[in-house]
Amino acid sequence: MRIDIITVLPELLRSPFDHSILKRAIDKGLVEVNLINLRDYSTHKQKSVDDYAFGGGAGMVMSIEPIANCINALKAERMYDEVIYTSPDGELLNQKMSNHMSTLKNIIILCGHYKGVDQRVRDHFITKEISIGDYVLSGGELAAAVISDSIIRLIPGAISDETSALTDSFQDNLLAPPVYTRPADYNGIKVPEVLLSGHAANIENWRHEESLKRTKERRPDLLK
Ligand code: ADE
Repeated sequence: MRIDIITVLPELLRSPFDHSILKRAIDKGLVEVNLINLRDYSTHKQKSVDDYAFGGGAGMVMSIEPIANCINALKAERMYDEVIYTSPDGELLNQKMSNHMSTLKNIIILCGHYKGVDQRVRDHFITKEISIGDYVLSGGELAAAVISDSIIRLIPGAISDETSALTDSFQDNLLAPPVYTRPADYNGIKVPEVLLSGHAANIENWRHEESLKRTKERRPDLLK
């Protein structure tokens, strides 16, 4: 899989891909992540990528030219399954969307900034708009990192224990059950007995019951 992220702040996005599961997936060649500096596609002397909004009002708007130049240059090299725009007014990201995106070959993520992008970019270049939550970030870079992380960890081979991505919270519309590790008794605070029993079926049952209980308590909306 290939993820091309178009951003005015490539430096902000380096670190998330330079550690842990994401770094290993890149090193193993399971995914290629390219951070593309939008300013490289600006034809202005000052490399500007935004301008004042027509009709007035506070805040700058990202211009269509550099974005179109950049996306067209990428599309000349290969086909893209999705051109994603990060925005608080996009579709709310969920596990189902990440599962689907992890099966794609090439995607572009355009990070929003300022007051947003010229609407013509959204109308003519973007195939999917994604929000990572009902709050406003300073820019789309952290959202692009969140979206990429949720996708990359699902690519077969990215997580050493392949089953663990499948038992994540949300994979069956259920939250994950509680987990424990040694010591079994910490100053009298004990681990549930069943987990020490070695009885696989009982443990499986217990985990499922705990998942259900947690989901009912915390996210009853997921059970509907
Ligand atoms: N850009 C600013 N806020 C955002 C959000 N909540 N999700 C995605 N992109 C954003």
